[in-house]
Amino acid sequence: MITEKGEASEPLAPTLRVGGAPLWRGLLDPAAQAAMLTEVRAVMAAAPPVHLRTPRGRPLSVAMTAAGSLGWTSGPGGYSYVPRHPSGVPWPPLPAPLAALWARLLPQARAPDSCLVNVYGEGARMGMHQDRDEADLAQPVLSVSLGDAALFRVGGNRRGGPTESVWLASGDVLALAGPARLAFHGVDRIRFGSSALVPGGGRINLTLRVAG
Ligand code: SIN
Ligand code: FE2
Repeated sequence: MITEKGEASEPLAPTLRVGGAPLWRGLLDPAAQAAMLTEVRAVMAAAPPVHLRTPRGRPLSVAMTAAGSLGWTSGPGGYSYVPRHPSGVPWPPLPAPLAALWARLLPQARAPDSCLVNVYGEGARMGMHQDRDEADLAQPVLSVSLGDAALFRVGGNRRGGPTESVWLASGDVLALAGPARLAFHGVDRIRFGSSALVPGGGRINLTLRVAG
């Protein structure tokens, strides 16, 4: 487990693999989760989450923002990484505790330049997709779950193949890395109100990436 000070009290071998993706269950202890949430709330204050639209014009049920030099966007022009929030402000700096977590779990990887913040309110979900808008698809994606539990589904590198599902709880950390880097994945549903971490309920998922 990782404490608020970023200290690991035990070896950091993953607890299990889901569809090949390493999952560290409960890696962040409650104080570390609260500290992460404080960082993320500062990001959300500077760059409020927005409901982007798909290229076809459908609003996403998940509200999104980002930190770091690049954040993800979606709209009529397709999907891409851009240096600014839709309001025109640059994305806030990537929080240091997240960069430290990445360095500890993924010491071989390049430093992340992006942290996407996905905010799931009641009923929000995310359809099955691959993360492939990053410039270097050999670099991993690291996902940190905060707040309400989510039913996360992982498949293979082909749409429509067999999938595995797992409930991700607050403090769980998962990597899309190695053979699972391009795995299709999504969030079928959240258990709204299942965690007391986020005031008023909801889930916040952070994904650290090497986008540029
Ligand atoms: C994502 O695929 O970008 C988010 C996954 C999650 O919310 O757990
Ligand atoms: Fe994704």
